[in-house]
Amino acid sequence: MTPHRVFVLSGPNLGRLGTREPEVYGSATLEDVAASTQSQAEELGLSLEFRQTDDEAELIGWIHEAVDERADVILNPAAFTHYSYALRDACALVTSAGARLVEVHLSNPAAREEFRHTSVVGGVATGTIAGFGADSYLLAMQALALSGRPATP
Ligand code: DQA
Repeated sequence: MTPHRVFVLSGPNLGRLGTREPEVYGSATLEDVAASTQSQAEELGLSLEFRQTDDEAELIGWIHEAVDERADVILNPAAFTHYSYALRDACALVTSAGARLVEVHLSNPAAREEFRHTSVVGGVATGTIAGFGADSYLLAMQALALSGRPATP
């Protein structure tokens, strides 16, 4: 059986993890997050595509790629979370194609500045995991592995 495909996508400034506001985001680098998600993916029998970009158009292109592969998506939209309707519309394609999209955040945006309380992505995500540092990515993978995919529409 082909392993279940999952795109793990991270948005702007997340390439700076490790040195970016470590009191908020922790000391793990994105390479550390990639390594731990990759090893958990192997245990769970998932085939991962792990990518980061600062570019909105590139991120949307990767979501289209996931839609075309009918892959599930774990997405940390970073600051795009709070205002990118274009990204939201791309995310809606994932769930309407019958795949799952988990919104993840290292920090808990609801406990931070007011502008972070709004997620334009949350309404089209299957679910959201926030506030567990780098473990948010691992928890999202476990959620995908544990809960079944919805029936094909
Ligand atoms: C973040 C939270 C966002 O508000 C912020 O813009 C980020 C990171 C998180 O993972 O906690 O860049 O998505």
